[in-house]
Amino acid sequence: MSALFQPFQLKGVTLRNRIGVAPMCQYSARDGIANDWHLFNYAAQARGGAGLVVIEATGVSPEGRITPDCTGIWSDAHAEAFAPIVRAIKSFGAVPGIQIGHAGRKASANNPWEGDDHIPTEDPRGWETIAPSAIPFGGQLSKVPREMTLADITRVRDDFVAAAKRARAAGFEWLELHFAHGYLAQTFFSKEANQRTDSYGGSFENRSRFLRETFAAVRAVWPEEYPLTVRFGVTEFNGRVDEDLAESVALARNLKADGMDLLDTSIGFSTPENTIPWSMGFMGPIARRIRTEAGIPVASAWNFGEPNVAEAAVAKGELDVVLVGKAHLANPHWAYEAARTLKIEELSSVLPPPYGHWLGRY
Ligand SMILES: Cc1cc2nc3c(=O)[nH]c(=O)nc-3n(C[C@H](O)[C@H](O)[C@H](O)COP(=O)(O)O)c2cc1C
Repeated sequence: MSALFQPFQLKGVTLRNRIGVAPMCQYSARDGIANDWHLFNYAAQARGGAGLVVIEATGVSPEGRITPDCTGIWSDAHAEAFAPIVRAIKSFGAVPGIQIGHAGRKASANNPWEGDDHIPTEDPRGWETIAPSAIPFGGQLSKVPREMTLADITRVRDDFVAAAKRARAAGFEWLELHFAHGYLAQTFFSKEANQRTDSYGGSFENRSRFLRETFAAVRAVWPEEYPLTVRFGVTEFNGRVDEDLAESVALARNLKADGMDLLDTSIGFSTPENTIPWSMGFMGPIARRIRTEAGIPVASAWNFGEPNVAEAAVAKGELDVVLVGKAHLANPHWAYEAARTLKIEELSSVLPPPYGHWLGRY
């Protein structure tokens, strides 16, 4: 019996299996509006058998996007553009999720295949970036951000709330707040990136404040029956893994008390330097520590895109949901291929009947 192909219930939502499509920017929107590329990309992944499809990092405001070609959800027109994508994902049996975020000092960047570097503020495609402190990320993202005022903090929190409401209006049933990867929320938590001396910097409590306030404000408008989740970089892998994880467990406990339903454990990426121990499934033991010590369901991506690795992560109690990223770009029917590899009994049920009837046998 496969652990990966067991259903997973969280609040009022049931995933048909433990496979989620990790959020992956498509850099294909115009003015933040999703289009046919997004429809076909995400619909294909839902049709391919995943239980959950999480739509890419979507800006809560124009300047919250990573690149000018990233999706956004700051107007009703943006939400309406997602509605057919949500319908398609649901009609193919997956739960439609979306990740909303603000890219902070990493915003205003060129697409990865166009340099991945900052677009100058003076360039018509670029914009001024904001962050907890006026400290650049470094490397090719060297633009110095403007230090956020308290009014900025309130405005961004309100943008998250408005985005969450619009995500629900578009029909999404799973919301992920992007608090990871060196973007705005992660930099508030980072001791390096956040040098503030007010109530948003310094102590663990102060560095958590932006995350917890933003989370709580979203929780107040996001319906209880649909999962509200957070993606957070639980360690920076820069020599202080144990210290990072102790803080991350504490943050996870606090967010759980605030109403978080699942933590998507990821990597901090707050500074260019890190020594990530890349190997298949390397995030599993880290995620299990958060899961056990904070008592919260967890998901994780990063190198789980081999069926036996994904299966083992669930079977060993490391992950509740396995997020598979690049393997879904290579093959949107990854879940079906995983079912074949794992020789699950109900192979035909992984694909919709018009495919499953013909392909669902060994
Ligand atoms: C093209 C691409 C775009 C990505 N965009 C996002 C994103 O929008 N939000 C996010 O949290 N992570 C993003 N990631 C990271 C993925 O969610 C995932 O963590 C990463 O690909 C590792 O999983 P994998 O080894 O299965 O590919 C992206 C990764 C790729 C390859």
